[in-house]
Amino acid sequence: MKNTRSREWFQAPEYYGFARRAWLRSEGFPADVFDGKPVIGICNSWSELNNCNLHLRDVAAAVKRGVWAAGGVPLEFPTISLGEMFMRPTTMMYRNLMAMDVEESIRANPLDAVVLLCGCDKTTPAQLMGAASADIPAMVVPGGPMLAGEWRGQRLGSGTDGKKLFDQYRTGRLTEEEWCEIEGCIARTSGHCGVMGTASTMTSLAEALGMTLPGSANIPAPDSRRLAMAELSGRAVVDMIEPGLTPSRIMTRAAFENAITVLMALGGSTNAVIHLIAIAGRLGIDLTLEDFDRISRRTACIVNVKPSGEYLMEDLFYAGGIPAVMHRIQDQLDGDCATVNGKTIGENISGAQSRNDAVIRPRDQPLYAEGGIAILHGNLAPHGAVIKQSAASKHLLQHRGRALVFETRDEMLAQVDREDLPVDRDTVLVMRNCGPKGAPGFPEWGHIPMPRKLLNEGVTDMVRISDARMSGTSFGTVVLHVAPESAIGGPLALVETGDEIVLDVPGRKLELRVPADELERRSRSFTPPAAHYTRGYGRLFLDHVTQADLGCDFDFLRP
Ligand code: FES
Repeated sequence: MKNTRSREWFQAPEYYGFARRAWLRSEGFPADVFDGKPVIGICNSWSELNNCNLHLRDVAAAVKRGVWAAGGVPLEFPTISLGEMFMRPTTMMYRNLMAMDVEESIRANPLDAVVLLCGCDKTTPAQLMGAASADIPAMVVPGGPMLAGEWRGQRLGSGTDGKKLFDQYRTGRLTEEEWCEIEGCIARTSGHCGVMGTASTMTSLAEALGMTLPGSANIPAPDSRRLAMAELSGRAVVDMIEPGLTPSRIMTRAAFENAITVLMALGGSTNAVIHLIAIAGRLGIDLTLEDFDRISRRTACIVNVKPSGEYLMEDLFYAGGIPAVMHRIQDQLDGDCATVNGKTIGENISGAQSRNDAVIRPRDQPLYAEGGIAILHGNLAPHGAVIKQSAASKHLLQHRGRALVFETRDEMLAQVDREDLPVDRDTVLVMRNCGPKGAPGFPEWGHIPMPRKLLNEGVTDMVRISDARMSGTSFGTVVLHVAPESAIGGPLALVETGDEIVLDVPGRKLELRVPADELERRSRSFTPPAAHYTRGYGRLFLDHVTQADLGCDFDFLRP
């Protein structure tokens, strides 16, 4: 093997090489371990504060077996982990912090390559961002989705079904006892949420980008094949060092276009738009919202998994996983892109087949004729907004209605269940101050709950607009990521209750029907809300986070 990076540490002259070898031998290694063997970091996002990633120590042990077998030396290290259900104000606030942790941990240490262990929503993009910036050979080993929940004969997908059943609970159609039973079984194993939420989307896109071994993304977390795949990954990562298979050679613009194509075919999470822009940005690749919309218009959504469809992530794995999905749309992909196993993506998927056409639909029987995500523009979103059209109600995709404005999420929560709330089925709910700076941190508050008054009338969906994000497990006619956000004076800040709003998803329009001179008059009296932080990481975040259309990375982290 050519001179490796780790030799600079362990073969350094005089005292330095001796000291580094001696101190590591305190971990119990024999004398010949640091004699030039490649050193593989295992970047582990395991944490008891992140249930989705709780099994990653077992996965790390399997990766280590593979690394030793291939003649390498594995060294596992922790970083901050981001548990989606627990962190305040939102994990999105800390994605960039984790990315910095990953990048600097890789750069500062004697590593020749790194294996990234991820799962829960933000852990995958954070690791990819950090690894992209560090740019030594890197491979992702996702933790895999959890198994389906089972309640009184119903299969439950964590996230999506929890939200659906909550509407039944809050309108009295589920008892306290039934609700408690559901709590005990909806997330019954380790692994990330078992629907096509952000976690499943991002691990699937890591595979589509070429950053995992083929077939790796969707093996369920408790399945023994997860550990076998981890061991194979440990073996394979050692072979990435000699040819210098770095993230910048794998994650090219063509690879990102492949990933966007797969995102659309999957009906994946709207959050992937932000994360892919941010990862690409680390490599100097300018992905734009227009790239997403262009690819969405030519790519049918064919994967029938919740929240857009009916099945769960484990069903997608049994049906053939990402290789089968990519094979089905291979004429829309660039098959020449490199991957972590040294083969092209085209070679990796050449033998794949769908084993269940109900889950991976034939191209002529799509779930949705276009991609799952559409990009909107108009005077209400000059820098763009996003809607998951595959999870929206068809009859609301072209809609015109009067706004009911909530200044903050707290105001919305205090009012949404009032019997005298002035709403009907045509009302457009508008919520502001939920963006990257306004909330702060860009939380997943965009799925504004349906007003109880309308639920009781049998109305289950309405148009909702905000500058927030939405969980990838959510559904409904929900417009998100309105940019620029209201807290910095974007047009969302100027909407008043009673204004007419026009949503036209086929026409990609989001318009506020208020004359320009009136908007100009309103903008003159806009005052930004008080900053949420004056010190610490929060201050750094507010000073440097970019808007949704630019990926919400810190401005100083791009090359
Ligand atoms: Fe971790 Fe859903 S809470 S993936």
